[in-house]
Amino acid sequence: MKATQFTAGCFMITLLISSCNTKNSDKKIYDDKAIADKSTTAEWLAYGRTHSEERFSPLKDIDVSNVADLSVDWFMDLPNDVGLVSTPLVVDGILYFVGTMNIVRAVDAVTGKLIWEYDPKVGDAIKGKRQSGWVHNRGLSFSKDKIFGATWDGRLFALDYKSGKEKWIVTTFDPSRALYITGAPKAFKDKVLIGNGGTEEGPTRGWVTAYDAETGKEAWKFYIVPGNPADGFENEAMEMAAKTWTGEWWKHGGGGNAWHGFTYDPELDVLYIGTGNGAPWNRKVRSPEGGDNLFLCSIVALNPDNGKYLWHYQTTPGESWDYNSNMDIVLTDLMIDGKKTKAILHAPKNGFFYVINRETGKLISAEPFVKTTWASHIDMTTGKPVETPNARYENGKVYITPSYAGAHSWHAMSFNPETGLTYIPVIHDALYYDDSGIDLKNFRAKPFEGGVGVNISQGEIPASTEASLLAWDPVKQKAAWSIQQDGVWGPGTLSTAGNLLFQGSSTGIFSAYDAATGKILWSFDCGLGISAPPITYKINGRQYISLLVGWGGGWAGLGHAALGWAYGKHTRRLITFSLDGKADMPKLPPKYFAKPLYDSTFKIDESKANHGAALYGACGSCHSPDMKAQGMAPDLRESPIPLSFQAFKSIVSGGERTNRGMPAFPNLSDQELEALTHYIRQRAHETKDE
Ligand code: HEC
Repeated sequence: MKATQFTAGCFMITLLISSCNTKNSDKKIYDDKAIADKSTTAEWLAYGRTHSEERFSPLKDIDVSNVADLSVDWFMDLPNDVGLVSTPLVVDGILYFVGTMNIVRAVDAVTGKLIWEYDPKVGDAIKGKRQSGWVHNRGLSFSKDKIFGATWDGRLFALDYKSGKEKWIVTTFDPSRALYITGAPKAFKDKVLIGNGGTEEGPTRGWVTAYDAETGKEAWKFYIVPGNPADGFENEAMEMAAKTWTGEWWKHGGGGNAWHGFTYDPELDVLYIGTGNGAPWNRKVRSPEGGDNLFLCSIVALNPDNGKYLWHYQTTPGESWDYNSNMDIVLTDLMIDGKKTKAILHAPKNGFFYVINRETGKLISAEPFVKTTWASHIDMTTGKPVETPNARYENGKVYITPSYAGAHSWHAMSFNPETGLTYIPVIHDALYYDDSGIDLKNFRAKPFEGGVGVNISQGEIPASTEASLLAWDPVKQKAAWSIQQDGVWGPGTLSTAGNLLFQGSSTGIFSAYDAATGKILWSFDCGLGISAPPITYKINGRQYISLLVGWGGGWAGLGHAALGWAYGKHTRRLITFSLDGKADMPKLPPKYFAKPLYDSTFKIDESKANHGAALYGACGSCHSPDMKAQGMAPDLRESPIPLSFQAFKSIVSGGERTNRGMPAFPNLSDQELEALTHYIRQRAHETKDE
């Protein structure tokens, strides 16, 4: 849509550069074969580098012996960005990435100069309406001559990769629904696939859609869970799936939304999708007489041409804990019992590491990679987990680990075929699950208000979220090494043939590890928490490592104020390192901690504040549930805005700041807005000395 004035000049420069560094660059066709080619080093063509999603590069110019010399080669300040979680792509000398509000930028991969920028105008799209979800997006997809991206409000677009010109843009769901997109689309075989998120936001029935890459026309659609049998089933797979549901599940939608985890396998010509958790989480509500509830929490293999079901493996039958299987699906070949086996590696939220035969869909092995209190092990004869007593909180409150955060979430893992290890950013978290006191029979989640049918709490257990970096041997199904990390969850990893492993951290430190031992060989303080995974590429004989630095992502808003990455205080950046880097990058300001405003003239009305506390649930995903915000949105306790009712109203219900990522809440009445201001003042007063 918006091509900046830089376009023409830089475009020329880029052509010159790329024709120097890539032989016959004009003739190169970036088809599935090229995207699957693991020997590529000049480029990073897919979300996980190649179709295999291994995030392993054969580059070894930077290795264990010289990584200590790594320094900043170039950087780009992104002053208007907030959370940055995406994996950049590198194609023909140009680095592409998606930033806050789904703005796509094309940058010269050698100099860091902006070539073009595309703004899908998300602020305009969400103006005046309610919008669930978040401003960040995990990445782009590429095929032939197009870059594909998706927007928060549910649009999918195709851009010409040289000019940034919009080729087509389509709406993938009814914008009035409580759905959103934070995921990268997946391009394969002249099609592009996208799903959506929103399982917690009200009744929803998940699906994925494939569009024609050339025209944006819908090619096929696959529903993840069955609808009301009275309406007839879309296909045999839905008919089969319906036998695993009970009660009137369709009234709750069932869930299963596919918001991440799409992999195309060009060797077998199969598409795998990772599916989401149940809507609501509690099976007693969703499917009261039990059942596995297909295809929740599964890897589903589909025919890429028509979306027809081929096979599935369900990691968490009848899920009740938000243990979705949307995590990355990595393809590789493993030597299992002396036989080369085409495998899928998958480490979903539920804490088990799965190796699946991708030719048959059969489980090869599964072992817990964290403490799992909900299930003791996976029964290899049934392929199903053996649950522990009261795991489904049938006899009251129960302490469960992993928590809904997952032992591993969307933060990409990588697999290094040379060490034979998978490098997983692991989350250690535990919570109480309890549905006593909930009217399970009449429970209904409302759109945008959501509800999961079970209460979760920390109880007497102190906040215990911890991060670790785990090197896991998928053949032996055991840890090779593991490192406890500071801060909260760690971002995605990158493996290279230089026997190196790269990973950022929530504390802002970007490190290179010896991939075999886990020893830290180099680290760099980026001055701001990192949520995105690094990539690598080589142009003109120089290997680069690139990383987006911008604390954010769905979980960044949840009570991690202690890290000090307050909203608007630290400029977001794209940083690229090399062994010869000489860039002089200014340091970012120090950590910032909110100072709650104390206004003695404001008389807090207790009952209004209580009402406000109930309404604040809609704000917590960005402003933090405890209101100690950081990173994703301003700390409302120190904001002067809630002191002026008119200013508060025009932002909160009026949608004055939608173009800055603050969605509108036109549903809130003046009385409700006032209640929110009382709650905000109450929290500010309660916490002013903390
Ligand atoms: C999707 C994330 C998100 C949600 C949900 C959200 N906000 Fe915001 N909010 C933001 C962001 C981002 C900003 C900063 C916008 C800017 O830079 O001007 C903001 C700004 C604000 C401001 C202005 C603060 C200031 O000092 O500039 C107020 C007031 C506010 N939000 C209140 C609320 C309330 C009340 C709710 C719930 C009813 C809510 N927000 C829900 C993201 C969110």
